[in-house]
Amino acid sequence: MCSIIGYKGQFIEAAPLLVESLKKMEYRGYDSVGIATMNNGKILISKGVGKVAEVDKILEFAKLPGQIGIGHTRWATHGGVSDKNAHPHFSCNSDIAVVHNGIIENYQELKEKLSKEGHIFKSQTDSEVIPHLLEKYCKEFNNDYKKSIIYTCKILKGSFAFVAIFKNGLICGARFDEPLIIGIANSALFLSSDVLGFLKHTDKAIFLDNGDIVTIDNNKYSIFDINNKKVIRPITQVAWELGSTEKGKYAHHTLKEIHEQPSILFNSINKNNDFQQFCKFIKNASNVYITGSGTSYHSGLLAKNLLAKFAKIKSEVIMSSEFQYMSDTLETNSAIIAISQSGETADVIHAVKKAKEHGSKILSIINISTSSLARISDSVLVLNCGPEIGVAATKSFIGQLMIIYNVVNLLSGNQLSLNKINQKKLVTDIEKTLELDEKIKTIVSMLDSEIKDIYILGRSLHYSIALEGSLKIKELAYIHAEGIAAGELKHGPLALIDAKSLVIVINPVDETYKDVISSTHEIKSRGAKIIGISNKNHELYDNYLQIPESIDHLYPIVEVIPLQIMAYYLSLKMQVDPDYPRNLAKSVTVK
Ligand code: AGP
Repeated sequence: MCSIIGYKGQFIEAAPLLVESLKKMEYRGYDSVGIATMNNGKILISKGVGKVAEVDKILEFAKLPGQIGIGHTRWATHGGVSDKNAHPHFSCNSDIAVVHNGIIENYQELKEKLSKEGHIFKSQTDSEVIPHLLEKYCKEFNNDYKKSIIYTCKILKGSFAFVAIFKNGLICGARFDEPLIIGIANSALFLSSDVLGFLKHTDKAIFLDNGDIVTIDNNKYSIFDINNKKVIRPITQVAWELGSTEKGKYAHHTLKEIHEQPSILFNSINKNNDFQQFCKFIKNASNVYITGSGTSYHSGLLAKNLLAKFAKIKSEVIMSSEFQYMSDTLETNSAIIAISQSGETADVIHAVKKAKEHGSKILSIINISTSSLARISDSVLVLNCGPEIGVAATKSFIGQLMIIYNVVNLLSGNQLSLNKINQKKLVTDIEKTLELDEKIKTIVSMLDSEIKDIYILGRSLHYSIALEGSLKIKELAYIHAEGIAAGELKHGPLALIDAKSLVIVINPVDETYKDVISSTHEIKSRGAKIIGISNKNHELYDNYLQIPESIDHLYPIVEVIPLQIMAYYLSLKMQVDPDYPRNLAKSVTVK
């Protein structure tokens, strides 16, 4: 939800480097930004509201001198979006500055106590208790920094990672249920929420575990736990994450990522060796549950349908945020398929931990192979679709679908016909569908700018795509959109349809075709405007988006593309930045 970065180097000024790092991690939160550097025994802070580049233009972060520093981009949880609430936060004596990601659950109680002791708070954030606690313990323990950090971590409740800078040049970090990674370069050390924060400088990383505390002093790091016991963690070479994080020829990351889909389509199948083990866990499980949030939940819905239809395996899909309310009924020997692009979504991690307590096996489908979810899973399949920077999931959705299709194919004795010829055709089909770009742009340009509601209809496998399409429109264009199971229309939603409605019907020619045409008639007679996504045109459609003829069960992989493109152009029409929708963050690491 927020990104944190710490840097201690020998030759390079910290501020410009921190700005670069924060730009790379801005997807994690982008309502305000701040930097602190240490120079000649003094900590200097500069911070403000807005995205990194905007604030940097005004505050000129590079002016902050010093080769040691910390930085932060914020996604507000406690306290509004304001300069004061932006991080870093100072201790009273300005000897310590802190950046924090996560939530301090007992901050009210701590704040009251610290205030009574004379500490003065300048923000409404939960985070600000950290520098004050560090200050308090530094005083109590005669500047024994290590002891102060340990005592601070002991008293904090919640999920958090923080990085603190002290006026003597020491940097420390702590990881408690929020990610924190050490980057090891030749003459510098980093502490970062994501490898993207330091990947330009080094691919050597240490992924800290929960409960790890780290200090960086004299360009050496030392890791220990809350009992002051030394901890050794392996140095990992970061691999795929080296993929490009630039926009290239595209105006936005989101558009680039939509257009990357043909090229990454089979990475998830071809670059994983663990499909057999993953399938074995499913076969041996007494019950199969699937969990995920947002787009990943939609992948889960499709997985449930495919597992039932082709592999005759019954499963239940539960949104990760709802999982905790049913976890007591989990049978031992269950398998939980956890789907998550980031592998850091708090709701997913929480669901998985609950399931683990009940003895379930965790099978995860993720993009970030080094994520928290990966590390608590029994079997992992990696999307390998490269970094997804746009907050809206696009290529990762396709990557997830391909893994799911391959798993079901293996479990069903190749009933999904994913042979080389069909794989090649699928790539061409997606390429052809991407050519609808101009047509969709024109359709969107002709839509009423006051448009308030969009409904997307689909049956069976297409219903999950209707939900996914509507999520894309909501988050990218801030327009109310609803995915509806076409058969449910007459049970209520039809009351909403009138001449002002825009309805998109997902209707390739398969077993659902005739029934969806019937629903389309019902909509047409209420005067709504209809866009049809199908391999076959129909007189009922006001606009027709043609997708290539395919094998029935492969249509979902292709039909989501026009919906992604439409959401993108709707965002431009509404003058919204598609890469960074308001109020959202790419990685939702709070519950
Ligand atoms: C999708 O466009 C969203 N940004 C969001 O719903 C996302 O899919 C969800 O937060 C889950 O993220 P994850 O896949 O990283 O767990």
